[in-house]
Amino acid sequence: MMYVILLGGPGAGKGTQSVGLSSELDAAHVASGDLFRRAIGEGTTLGLEAKSYMDKGELVPDELTVRMVLERLQEPDCGRGAVLDGFPRTLGQAQALDTALDALGKGIGAVLYIKVSEEELIRRLSGRWICRDCQFPYHMVNSPSKSDGVCDRCGGELYQRDDDTEATSRRRVQVYNDQTAPLISYYQAQGSLIEIDGEQPIEQVGQQMADSLKVRSGQGASR
Ligand code: AP5
Ligand code: MG
Ligand code: ZN
Repeated sequence: MMYVILLGGPGAGKGTQSVGLSSELDAAHVASGDLFRRAIGEGTTLGLEAKSYMDKGELVPDELTVRMVLERLQEPDCGRGAVLDGFPRTLGQAQALDTALDALGKGIGAVLYIKVSEEELIRRLSGRWICRDCQFPYHMVNSPSKSDGVCDRCGGELYQRDDDTEATSRRRVQVYNDQTAPLISYYQAQGSLIEIDGEQPIEQVGQQMADSLKVRSGQGASR
């Protein structure tokens, strides 16, 4: 049972790696961005409020974000552990998560920091297509779906996110550097940070993650 945080800039590969990692750990996949996009799709008040920030590439205020994610973590499937994708993203969120897990007698197993250069992040976002149904990300050059515009995993329709324009992507990178990058030293100080080279091919990034978690949990590397 493990809570694992995926930390990394917009386009680093958090969503891509979450699927394999959560099935490997038999843990839930909790993605704050996906939860907001679902709320937008459903037209809820939370969705409307979140959209005004997301469209500009800004962070949704901590109060709304923390409440939404902590509620999600109380659902039964998260009792087996969770892969947190895109949360926490500010020091305030990280502290709120620590407090909430403490109260449950649980803790963070590891923080996987997926390191990718800024120019590579922008290249990835500009070619990304997402499944409308299962949210899995594809890339028109790096990892296209087998059939144009259709998700390999569930047959859903692929679309480009509104916030993946060049201008909004650059703002998201800036916001990441200002507000989220400080979490690297926060988790380093807690002894939970593991750096992953996010510029390797997708499979190798996943393998490095799996191997480093095995080392951490004392089972020894598998290769
Ligand atoms: P969110 O949905 O979390 O977006 P993000 O952090 O900007 O990250 P992305 O989803 O863009 O990137 P990713 O790391 O998942 O990359 P992916 O795997 O898709 O958040 C959106 C917005 O919601 C925020 O801007 C904010 O407004 C709000 N929000 C969300 N959480 C919040 C929070 N906690 N607090 C406040 N506000 C919050 O990969 C990207 C592309 O690269 C894909 O095309 C993929 O195929 C390709 N790719 C992936 N890995 C590789 C590789 N190794 N090699 C080559 N290509 C690769
Ligand atoms: Mg994502
Ligand atoms: Zn799909």
